[in-house]
Amino acid sequence: MDTFDAIYQRRSVKAYDPQHEMSDAEVTKLMEAAVQSPTSFNMQNWRFVLIKENKELRAKLREASYNQAQVEEASLVIILAADLNAHADNPARYWKDAPEETSKMMSGMLAGFYEGKDQLQRDEAQRSCAIAGQTIMLAAKAMGYDTCPMIGFDIEKVGQLINLPENHLISFMITVGKQVKAAWPKPGQLELSEVVIRDQF
Ligand SMILES: Cc1cc2nc3c(=O)[nH]c(=O)nc-3n(C[C@H](O)[C@H](O)[C@H](O)COP(=O)(O)O)c2cc1C
Repeated sequence: MDTFDAIYQRRSVKAYDPQHEMSDAEVTKLMEAAVQSPTSFNMQNWRFVLIKENKELRAKLREASYNQAQVEEASLVIILAADLNAHADNPARYWKDAPEETSKMMSGMLAGFYEGKDQLQRDEAQRSCAIAGQTIMLAAKAMGYDTCPMIGFDIEKVGQLINLPENHLISFMITVGKQVKAAWPKPGQLELSEVVIRDQF
């Protein structure tokens, strides 16, 4: 699928065929695309929690998501989480295929850039998840699936449901499935003249 077609055809779809099953090969293809997303210093701080067959967990997740049906009816739910300590967790592995000198330099810079800066670590986690989320949504569209990004859930409860480790955060979740009802008409984009700033505000 053409990139622009995927961008324009992606919509937040909330009604999915609950009978449809995504194959493991499709899930792998989607996640392999997700990890192509860029991250600062290539630190790959995202963690993708996939919830597919576990019906009991899905039901609890739906409850924690203010009963939004798509959480139970989609073929796959992806919770985009991040490791806030990724910058310090053996960073040389993020540059394992680079020349040794580059690897040493980049992993040294990475640790120093984020060390002790809690807000920056959290911002980076959100940036990485947001970018990977868009990759997932566009890749899913190209694979014949629809998606819905979601923050309408109790983040504490969902953290408990997935045993979110210390030093991690949840950014948002994405449902993926076969749509049975189209998204409502596009609600309306702001004019470029309001959102595009040339040179300075
Ligand atoms: C971070 C984020 C959280 C969202 N949370 C929800 C949600 O909890 N439930 C829902 O139905 N839609 C949710 N949406 C979908 C938005 O309502 C939707 O993206 C917006 O209305 C634009 O429509 P479109 O995505 O079809 O272009 C969310 C979107 C984003 C980006």
